[in-house]
Amino acid sequence: MRYFFLSYLLVIVFVISVFGFRGDKFKQTPIRVFPDMDDQDRINPQSANDFFRNDMGSQKPVDHTVPFGHTLSPDAKSELSGYGNKTTYLHTGLIDGVNYGTGFPEELELKNDLENQTAFLTRGKEVFGYKCAICHGESGDGKGIVSEYGFNTVASLTTSTLGEGNIYYVLNKGRGLMGQMGSDMTLYDRWATVAYVKALQEASKTEAAK
Ligand code: HEC
Repeated sequence: MRYFFLSYLLVIVFVISVFGFRGDKFKQTPIRVFPDMDDQDRINPQSANDFFRNDMGSQKPVDHTVPFGHTLSPDAKSELSGYGNKTTYLHTGLIDGVNYGTGFPEELELKNDLENQTAFLTRGKEVFGYKCAICHGESGDGKGIVSEYGFNTVASLTTSTLGEGNIYYVLNKGRGLMGQMGSDMTLYDRWATVAYVKALQEASKTEAAK
């Protein structure tokens, strides 16, 4: 047994003398038993790289790439399919950057266009279904599936008295326990969801809902 402890001690002394203590500084190239992810392939900007067919490290962005926070193109139709970084009502839900607005932005071209309105609400229903119903419930009463798992402080949307701009703002930027949801929704989808929330409010007032 004595020899065991002695040899054990020698092994420890040997290991420490070869590898040193953790955090020690030394000049030689370290011996790395487990390299972890210390070295990785990478592309240096402005330098040659044979990974790409044109042997250049720096590549142009893929066609139709939209930088985060930018709209697709300046004309109105595709502005709606962009993600919005302007300060207008369409983008923020705010008038003059401070007050919550009411009603829907003109850019949506909903006025007197029944076909457009129907498509708009249909889309709103779809988006609400996969984005909001999990918390707010299919009918907007605040009793989505999460309430069965203890998250039961979700606001009811049917009893909410917020105007369109304010609903948009909460959707876009989040509030309290609700995270912001706008960043991956197009402007069109955000407003369509607002319209559907309004529709749910109206529906909850009907006799059938009582
Ligand atoms: C992760 C759960 C969750 C999801 C998903 C969610 N919400 Fe909420 N929402 C909440 C909670 C919680 C509150 C209460 C926030 C607070 O004031 O603390 C809230 C509040 C709101 C309010 C304010 C209501 C009022 O009158 O005060 C609106 C409007 C709203 N949500 C809209 C939406 C819309 C639209 C979506 C889908 C795009 C959505 N929410 C998705 C959890 C969620």
